[in-house]
Amino acid sequence: MNKVKLGLFSVLLLLGAAKTAMADDCQLTIDANDAMAFSANQMSAPASCKEVTVTLNHTGRLPANTMGHNWVLTTAGDFKDVATAGMSAGLDNHYVPQGDARVLAATKIIGGGETDSITFSTEALTAGEEYTFFCSFPGHWAIMKGSFKLM
Ligand code: CO
Repeated sequence: MNKVKLGLFSVLLLLGAAKTAMADDCQLTIDANDAMAFSANQMSAPASCKEVTVTLNHTGRLPANTMGHNWVLTTAGDFKDVATAGMSAGLDNHYVPQGDARVLAATKIIGGGETDSITFSTEALTAGEEYTFFCSFPGHWAIMKGSFKLM
C-alpha cells in the first residue's frame, strides 16, 4: 500500500513539474540595445500556450525619442505595411497604428533601462506559421526584426 501511495505521489509530482515548465515556456524575454539590435532574431513558444508574454528589456542608455524600441507582432505579410503605418502613428502612439487588427501584439516604445511586457492570446495564431516581430521605431524595422513561431 505504501508503494502504491508513493507511486501515485511521484506521478502527481511529475504532473506538477510538467505544468510549471509549460507555463514558463510561455514567458519569453528579449533585449534591445543602443546599437539598434535585438538579442534574438528567432523566438518561439509551445503551441500549447493559451497566452504568451513577451518582456522587452532595453539594455541601452539612450532615451525613447532617439533610440526607442518596442516589440510588435504581425503576420509576415502585414509586417511592412504595419511598420509604415506605425511611422505615421507617431511616438505618442508608440509608432503603432491604433485599432489596427493587423497588430497581433505590441509593447510600448521604451528607452534605455526600461522594460515593458505584453501578454497576448494565441487564439488568432496558427501553429507552425512564421510571424514577424519587429521594432516599429522609424528606421529600425528594416534591421530590428525576426521570426516568431508557435511550435
Ligand atoms: Co528600435
